[in-house]
Amino acid sequence: MLSDKLLEKLNEQITHEFFSAHYYLAMAAHFKKEDLDGFANFFIVQAEEERFHAMKFFEFINDQGNDAVITGFKDPKRNFESAEEIFALALEHEKLVSSLINDLMALAQEEKHYPSISFLQWFIDEQVEEEASMSKMLNQIRRIGEQGHGIIMLDRELAMRTFTPAAE
Ligand code: FEO
Repeated sequence: MLSDKLLEKLNEQITHEFFSAHYYLAMAAHFKKEDLDGFANFFIVQAEEERFHAMKFFEFINDQGNDAVITGFKDPKRNFESAEEIFALALEHEKLVSSLINDLMALAQEEKHYPSISFLQWFIDEQVEEEASMSKMLNQIRRIGEQGHGIIMLDRELAMRTFTPAAE
């Protein structure tokens, strides 16, 4: 069983992860509108990853003998100016998620709740990759700019991205 405090925070993380999926889907919608289907695909796949993250928390809470609570959240931002703005926002969002995961780990350690510590370690590692991926994309966009050949080449590359759930 989880303590009330840890359960509350783990349940909140389900909402944060589902919100992340919505946020990235809103970003995908922007790229669809711009006919940049590869960039849209990048964020559609990212949204799938976020739902996968949410379900990991859902399953873990249930496996611990507690009740997962599903709540709503605010609408994500829907108007974006540029690819650079989107990737900067996505990186900022991943940094926020990393801080939430770090806080969860700190709480699990404070409570010496070893199953949670073990479970959360996967997310600590995952967030390193999530931030690196958005940071790399942001740097590439800044290098090639919003128009021209570079963006089309990158769009083609991003069209290849598929969702492969990471190993446990
Ligand atoms: Fe679920 Fe992108 O962190």
